[in-house]
Amino acid sequence: MSISQTNIGFVGAGNMAKAMIGGLIQKGFPKQHLWASNPKTGALDFLKITHQLHTTLDNRELANQVDVLILAVKPDVLKSVILELHPIIHQKKPLLISIAAGISTQAIYQWLGNAQQNIPLIRAMPNTPALINQAVTGVFTPNTLSKAHLNITDTILSAIGTYVWLEQEPWLDIVTGLSGSGPAFLFYILEAMIAEAVKRGLPEPIAKEMALKMCLGSASLALSTEQKLSLLRQNVTSKGGTTSAGLQKAESLGLAHAVESMIAAAIERAKEVCQQTISE
Ligand SMILES: NC(=O)c1ccc[n+]([C@@H]2O[C@H](COP(=O)([O-])OP(=O)(O)OC[C@H]3O[C@@H](n4cnc5c(N)ncnc54)[C@H](OP(=O)(O)O)[C@@H]3O)[C@@H](O)[C@H]2O)c1
Repeated sequence: MSISQTNIGFVGAGNMAKAMIGGLIQKGFPKQHLWASNPKTGALDFLKITHQLHTTLDNRELANQVDVLILAVKPDVLKSVILELHPIIHQKKPLLISIAAGISTQAIYQWLGNAQQNIPLIRAMPNTPALINQAVTGVFTPNTLSKAHLNITDTILSAIGTYVWLEQEPWLDIVTGLSGSGPAFLFYILEAMIAEAVKRGLPEPIAKEMALKMCLGSASLALSTEQKLSLLRQNVTSKGGTTSAGLQKAESLGLAHAVESMIAAAIERAKEVCQQTISE
């Protein structure tokens, strides 16, 4: 079956599903092959009106129609969705793609009655820049995927940005804390930077524009070179200068430790979510 004839269904029509659907449509994926299900009509109405998608309140109706099932519900709902769709998944053997944070492939296979041999499963961890096709997604599979499944995975994940295959599943929890939650962490730091500039008299719109474009430019600079971030930092830190003064203050306040702890807390939470969900 060619990619453009593959039917893709999103179980859960929330923010991430909408971003992925928007990306696929923007890249020219045919709307008539896209499905979405959700327990309330609000999210579905948007997809139906904006993108003329097939929508349904019934997850089972969707699962019966598609070749790729994207599980885009919150982690605490995933088990009930899988148990609901269990017979159809076993019958149709779709490619399963779960984007639920923290839920391991082992847990998903357990809910499916240990169907590792028969049902291809992928875990993906995108981030919110998916909304503007700028996500970076970590992706893992415990299976050997067919060429067709690799191609469709590439189509879906390329539609929302770039992606990186991860060799080990525990790396996904790390990616969850790093780039999954990362946009919120970065916004938090930028909010503080902007707040200080505004407190000192710079108008907020100017402070915001300067801070955001600084962030974009710095990331682009770092991506454009093989040089280490530490070297790029040193290049703009002259002895006794302004950057040096700021960095010394950050060091004395333990900023690096605070940032490391922020990432660690997110990673630990991803692991806890998995443990809780399995033991429920
Ligand atoms: N947002 C992120 O940055 C991000 C990043 C990476 C991964 N993720 C993962 O992506 C998943 C979705 O996140 P999100 O931000 O898109 O959440 P969201 O906006 O809350 O979307 C979840 C959707 O699932 C629907 N839903 C609830 N129960 C359902 C059921 N039984 N069957 C079908 N649909 C159901 C919800 O409908 P109602 O609202 O009507 O209840 C909602 O529309 C999560 O597992 C999250 O861990 C999110």
